[in-house]
Amino acid sequence: MVGSRVAIIGAGSVGATIAYALLLKKITSELVLVDIVEETARGQVLDLSDAGFVTSTRIRQGNFQEAGQCDIVIVTAGAKQKPNETRVELIERNYQILSSVISKMKPLNPNIILLIVANPVDILTYIAQQLSGLPKNQVFGSGTFLDSARLRLELANILKVSETAIHAYVLGEHGDSQFIAWSSAHVGGKPLLDFPEMQTVDKEKLAKDIARKAYEIINLKGSTYFGIAGCVSSLVQAIAFNERTVKPLSIYVEEFQCVLGMPVVLGSSGIERIIDVFLNADEKARLQKSAAELSAICKKYA
Ligand SMILES: NC(=O)c1ccc[n+]([C@@H]2O[C@H](COP(=O)([O-])OP(=O)(O)OC[C@H]3O[C@@H](n4cnc5c(N)ncnc54)[C@H](O)[C@@H]3O)[C@@H](O)[C@H]2O)c1
Repeated sequence: MVGSRVAIIGAGSVGATIAYALLLKKITSELVLVDIVEETARGQVLDLSDAGFVTSTRIRQGNFQEAGQCDIVIVTAGAKQKPNETRVELIERNYQILSSVISKMKPLNPNIILLIVANPVDILTYIAQQLSGLPKNQVFGSGTFLDSARLRLELANILKVSETAIHAYVLGEHGDSQFIAWSSAHVGGKPLLDFPEMQTVDKEKLAKDIARKAYEIINLKGSTYFGIAGCVSSLVQAIAFNERTVKPLSIYVEEFQCVLGMPVVLGSSGIERIIDVFLNADEKARLQKSAAELSAICKKYA
């Protein structure tokens, strides 16, 4: 089965929490943890293996070459944001790390799926596409999936409906230039903005709060990891079971010559297609602004 061997590069807070979420889901046969600091990976494997009685997934420490032969590699290796540091400021530090990770994993299993989580996720996904030489549909990032989950949580509380009934996306950069595609959002077939509860909502503030939520968590406790682990474990499930689920992920968009968050169909071979989501004129302008900022950075790494 595709997705039966999954490697996680970077066994810090995010990597270990993804590993834990995957163990609980029991959807992979083997989980391989790799970290430049061998003691970190070893410590996490020992700790996670104590939860072994709840799972059928085997977990072990591995090396980069073994990771390169897995079905899915999740890259969380990288420096994390310091308080008030933007994701883009992380680029140079994380470019060096990603480049060494990919070269140490080579030669790559030609069918491998590279799922980038380290930030800035859109730029690092673009760089991973360049450095790996893999087809672009096999190399993508977690994008605005987490931001969209944060949006759906807020809307669920406002409308008092289940999060799963809400179809609404944050698109563009996983970062400061992201925006909400309000005009295409709907619940039960009814446009979101037609709900009476939405008339009193300050939408600009809501969008800002969602974009700033990571900073708020980082200020309070130093880093974020539970939300992203939930997102990534559901992406692995979508790949493993060929779910063809639709999620807003970091993917290459030809029109903009850069990687950014758009809704895509995800199956066992990776990204199957981009959904051409309806955007009004204001949202199109925001998408173009987000794309312009990202493509200016991507050009430096082309
Ligand atoms: N995409 C998202 O929505 C999202 C959400 C949360 C965090 N993140 C990002 O995830 C990344 C990891 O965050 P964290 O909190 O786990 O950080 P962390 O510092 O806890 O862990 C990072 C790990 O990477 C390892 N590492 C560094 N260089 C390496 C290399 N060359 N090879 C292998 N391992 C290496 C470190 O030893 C460390 O264990 C950050 O870039 C963070 O911004 C992304």
